[in-house]
Amino acid sequence: MTEQPAIRLDQVSKRFPGSEVEAVRSLSLDIPRGSIVALIGPSGCGKTTTLRMINRLIEPTGGRIEIEGVDVTSRAATELRRGIGYVIQQVGLFPHRTIAQNIATVPKTLGWDRARVDARVEELAELVGLEAEMLDRYPDELSGGQQQRVGVARALAADPPVLLMDEPFGAVDPIVRGRLQDELLALQTRVHKTIVLVTHDIDEAVKVADRIALLNVGGILEQYASADELLRTPANAFVEEFVGEDRGMKRLTLRLVSDLIVTDGAVVDAEADRSAVPPVLRAANSDWFGLTQDGRFLGWVSRQDYEAQPSTALADLPRALPAAQVTPDSTLRRAMEVIMTSDTSTAVVDDGGRFGGVVTLEQIRAGLAAPEGS
Ligand SMILES: Nc1ncnc2c1ncn2[C@@H]1O[C@H](COP(=O)(O)OP(=O)(O)O)[C@@H](O)[C@H]1O
Ligand SMILES: [Mg+2]
Repeated sequence: MTEQPAIRLDQVSKRFPGSEVEAVRSLSLDIPRGSIVALIGPSGCGKTTTLRMINRLIEPTGGRIEIEGVDVTSRAATELRRGIGYVIQQVGLFPHRTIAQNIATVPKTLGWDRARVDARVEELAELVGLEAEMLDRYPDELSGGQQQRVGVARALAADPPVLLMDEPFGAVDPIVRGRLQDELLALQTRVHKTIVLVTHDIDEAVKVADRIALLNVGGILEQYASADELLRTPANAFVEEFVGEDRGMKRLTLRLVSDLIVTDGAVVDAEADRSAVPPVLRAANSDWFGLTQDGRFLGWVSRQDYEAQPSTALADLPRALPAAQVTPDSTLRRAMEVIMTSDTSTAVVDDGGRFGGVVTLEQIRAGLAAPEGS
C-alpha cells in the first residue's frame, strides 16, 4: 500500500465565468507529505489558479481536492487556510504594519496571548534568517530579499503542515534568489512541510523540488517526475523544449561525485620505486600521476618532471597542488569544470585529506547514463 499523499488533486478543472476555455483541465496530482513539488510551465498555464484552488481562494468547477484525505470543500475556508501557509507572488506585506506585526498576523487572529506571539515572531525571524533589529521596521525599509523572508516567516507563523508558494523568489535578483533557494532547502530540513511551489524557472525547479509538475496552457499536465527523470527522459517534445537543450548539463548539478564508481586511476604510492610509474601512466593513458602516502593524496606529478629528473625519488618530485581536487559531495558539474580546466586527472579527496579515487569524463558520462539512485 502506498502512503496517502498530503494533497491530492483528482481531475480538477477550473473554467472562469465568461471564459470559453478552461484555465485548468482535469488535473490529477498527488503531492507526497514532506516534499517540495514545483508547478512549472509557461505564463498563463494555470499555475496560480491551481495553487489558489488548494486553499480555496478559487473554487474548482470540477473534480476534487483532498488534504490528508479530506475534501477541502467540506471544511470552512477560513479554518482550512489556517493549516495552509501562503506566500504570494509580490510578497504582499501589509505596508503600515511593522515586520513583527506582519509575521504575527495569523497567530493574532488565532487569539494567542502577547508573550506567545512575541516568542513565535522571534523564533521565526531566526528560522528565516532575519536579524532581530528588522522586526520593528516597516516593509519598505527592507530589501527585496528580506521582504521575501518576512513573507515566508508570516506563512509559517501558525506552523501549518502545508505551504503554498507562488513565485516566491520572482522579484529578487539572481544572487539573492540563489541564496533564498538555499535557505528554503535548509529550512525544509528543519520543518518538513509539504510545499507546493510555483515557478517559471526550470533551474529553480530542478534545484529545489523533489518532484516537478510541468503544465501546458490550459492547465494540462505534460509530465510529473523527479528533476532527474524529467531531464533524462522528457515525455514529449513540449517537455524537451521547455527543459532546454542543456538538460544533460542540468543533470550534472543534481549528481554528486559520491554517486560515481571511481577508480584509483594513475596513482602511485610516494614510497614506491620509480619503476612503478611508467606502467601506471601507460594503463591510464595519462601524462600525470597522483602521489599518495598512507591513504592521503599529496598532489599530481607530471611525466615531464618525472623524466627530467631521473634520479629523484618520487616523494621529492615537484607537485601541482591542490589543483584538480573535488570532494565526495561536489556536484558532477563541479567535477566536470575541474576536469575541463586542468591538465591532470581529478582526485576525489575527503575533508580529512583521504584519497578516494580519480574522476574521469568517462565515469561522469557512465554515471549520467543511469537514472538517479540506481
Ligand atoms: N479571475 C480570473 N478570471 C478570468 N480568467 C482568469 C482569472 N484568473 C486567471 N485567469 C486566466 O486563467 C489562465 C491561467 O492563469 P494563471 O493561473 O494566473 O496562470 P499562471 O499562474 O500559470 O501564469 C490565464 O489564461 C488567465 O488569464
Ligand atoms: Mg501565476
